Amino acid sequence: MNVDGVPYRSIWRQGRSFAIIDQSRLPFEFHVIDITHMESGARAIRDMQVRGAPLIGATAACSVALAMQEDPSDRALGHAVEHLAVTRPTAVNLRWALERMRGVLQSVSATDRADIAWQEAERICDEDVQLNQAIGRHGLTALRALCNQDRAGPLNVLTHCNAGWLATVDGGTALAPVYLAHDQGMALHVWVDETRPRNQGLLTAWELARHGVPHTFIADNAGGHLMRQGTVDVVIVGADRVTRNGDVCNKIGTYLKALAAYDNGVPFYAAVPGPTVDWTLECGDDIPIEERDAAEVIHVRGLDDAGAPAQLRILPEGSAASNPAFDVTPARLVSGLITERGIAQASRDGLLGLYPERRA
Ligand code: MRU
Repeated sequence: MNVDGVPYRSIWRQGRSFAIIDQSRLPFEFHVIDITHMESGARAIRDMQVRGAPLIGATAACSVALAMQEDPSDRALGHAVEHLAVTRPTAVNLRWALERMRGVLQSVSATDRADIAWQEAERICDEDVQLNQAIGRHGLTALRALCNQDRAGPLNVLTHCNAGWLATVDGGTALAPVYLAHDQGMALHVWVDETRPRNQGLLTAWELARHGVPHTFIADNAGGHLMRQGTVDVVIVGADRVTRNGDVCNKIGTYLKALAAYDNGVPFYAAVPGPTVDWTLECGDDIPIEERDAAEVIHVRGLDDAGAPAQLRILPEGSAASNPAFDVTPARLVSGLITERGIAQASRDGLLGLYPERRA
C-alpha cells in the first residue's frame, strides 16, 4: 500500500534484520523500526507495535530467522519458538507460523538454518499477500451481489477494529474486498468503528484516507443505531481465530455488531485466511481470550493542543477497570466466512467443503 506515494508493506526484510511500521504510534506518527534481535521481535508483538493476526504470525516467523542467525542450534530454535509463542494468546496465526518454521527448520543442518529460516519467513510473508488478494476477489463477489439489489447511493460497509493492510503483510483481509471494489469504481462508504480501548479504528481510518476510500469514523456504540436506520448494507470484520464449527473470535465488540446485524437482517461476514482457522478446536468457547492491561482502558491517546502525541487518564482513581481484548461471535450469527478459497458457510461442513484435506 502507498503511504504518501511510497509503496510499503507492514513488514519487510532488510539484510540481516527486518523492519516494521510502529503501529503503537500510528496514526499520529509514522515511524519505522529496525528489528535486529529475536527478543525485540517478541516485544514488538507483545507491546502491539505490530498487531493483527496475520502480521503477528509474519513477525514471529522473521523473529525466528533472527534467532537462527545468532545461534542455529536445536536448543536456540526450541527456545525461540517457545518464547515467541507466548507473546499473545488469541491469534492462532502466531502458533501456525511458529509451527511451520519449526517444521521446516528441524530437519535442516545448523549451517543452513539461518538462510532457510529467512527463505521460509519471506515465503510466509509473500503467501499472506496472495491469500489476501484472493480474499479480496471473493469478497468483491459478495459486495457486487449486494450492489445488484435495488439500491441507491454507495454501498455502506461497517467494519470493526483494523483488518486492513496494517494488520497483514499487505492488502488486508476485511478491507481487501473494499480496496478492490473501490479501485474498480464501485461507490462505497465505510463506517469505521472506533474500537476502544486501543482505537484500532484510527488505523482503519488512516488507511482508508490514504487510499481515498470514503469513510466515517464512529463511536463503537453507534453501529446498532445505524443498522436500525438502514444505513449499513453489510458488516465485514477480520478474525483472530475461527474454530471448526465456524465460530469467529475477533476484537472485543465484534459480537455486539454481529447481534445487531442479525437483528436487522444485515449480512455479517468475517474475512478469514486459511492460517486463521484453528482445526484443533471444535468451538469458540475453547479459545484463550487475551486479558490486557487495564491501563489501556483507563487512558486515551491523542494529540494535545500543540499537536504533539499525548496520553490522558480518563478514569479517576478508585474504580477498577477490566480489558478483555477479544470476543467470540457464534457461527449462527455469521452470514459467511470469506476465505482465499471462496465464501464458506460458517459451519463445520462449510469449512470442510473448502478445506477437504482437513476432514481427517
Ligand atoms: O489486538 P489486535 O489489534 O491484534 O487485534 C486485531 C484484530 O482483532 C483484527 O480484527 C484481526 O486480527 C484480524 S486482522 C486481519
